[in-house]
Amino acid sequence: MQFWAMVAREAGDDVVLAREKVGDDFLGTGTVTIKVHYSSANYKDGLAVTRGGGVVREYPIVPGIDLSGEVVESQDPQFAPGDLVIAHGYDIGVAHHGGYAEYARVPAGWVVKLDGLTPRDAATLGTAGFTAAMSVAALLDHGLTPEAGPVLVTGATGGVGTVAVDLLAGLGFEVVASTGKSDAGDLLTELGASRVIGRLPEDPDAKLRPLGKAVWAGAVDSVGGTSLAWVLSAVKYGGAVAASGLTGGAAVPTTVLPFILRGVSLLGIDSVQFPIARRRALWTRLGADLKPRHLDRLANEAPVTEVAAVLRDIHSGKHSGRTVLRVAGAF
Ligand SMILES: NC(=O)c1ccc[n+]([C@@H]2O[C@H](COP(=O)([O-])OP(=O)(O)OC[C@H]3O[C@@H](n4cnc5c(N)ncnc54)[C@H](OP(=O)(O)O)[C@@H]3O)[C@@H](O)[C@H]2O)c1
Repeated sequence: MQFWAMVAREAGDDVVLAREKVGDDFLGTGTVTIKVHYSSANYKDGLAVTRGGGVVREYPIVPGIDLSGEVVESQDPQFAPGDLVIAHGYDIGVAHHGGYAEYARVPAGWVVKLDGLTPRDAATLGTAGFTAAMSVAALLDHGLTPEAGPVLVTGATGGVGTVAVDLLAGLGFEVVASTGKSDAGDLLTELGASRVIGRLPEDPDAKLRPLGKAVWAGAVDSVGGTSLAWVLSAVKYGGAVAASGLTGGAAVPTTVLPFILRGVSLLGIDSVQFPIARRRALWTRLGADLKPRHLDRLANEAPVTEVAAVLRDIHSGKHSGRTVLRVAGAF
């Protein structure tokens, strides 16, 4: 079988992403073959096409950590031709050929049948939206309710951030969105934010203390770094922070005080190895009670052949919302 793909290859000190006609060796191993309709652009996809990005095990690879579409062949009884599915996480797009190709083959244990979402909706959410949903579900499981007070979302214009704002506002929370983009107010307000603030600390001369004024009932943080330390210092007694990312850095300069004096919980969010049964259950909720209200507003669409420019925007922090990449018919 021959098909089109965007292939990332090492070239000197660089990684080059180019359109290529490839064969079965670019399908990957697995029992379910999928005609890819859509993929998406995530922060991690940007790292996959960056020299020293640290996420790809071996080049050449078809990047794309999300893929949605239609099953065309299955050796596993759980799936049949025509099923609409999404697969993301595990090794997809980093150690197993991913979604930037007309076809992909993956193990059945990585595949989620879609219920209440089209392949385009599912790819619009993709890994970033799923991570937002995991974060919100973790806060709800922790016992967070709208009556507890405002919930902060950092990196609010990002993929995780925009979907988190939408989901939390839809559940009735007062959402405060923290962003570095001065022109993002309209987008974030339309998604449901009650208030938009700058990146943390808002006052660049402020001194970070382990405990500050207790303001947030909870937070969804995909920024990490010093920003996360500021968030932790301002969480109310018994509150929780769902932490998933590191766009602001990996080192968090905090102390144990928020945990031992205010009973604050830091909830770790990992979408990559999240077990398939729980993954399928959360996707079902994303098509039902947790369905985001503004998917069309936060989605930009581009053909997958133009993904390099989108990933450059993500890498330089210029990107907002989610870019869903059209794969079928795009080559
Ligand atoms: N744990 C998991 O399973 C998981 C899954 C998905 C993503 N992630 C991680 O979560 C993070 C966000 O992913 P994403 O796909 O949402 O990325 P994204 O769409 O690129 O959004 C990241 C956002 O972070 C903010 N930001 C960028 N540079 C920053 C800086 N230097 N300091 C503070 N804020 C900065 C920006 O928001 P503003 O301009 O609005 O401030 C940006 O829009 C990444 O670190 C990613 O690796 C983890």
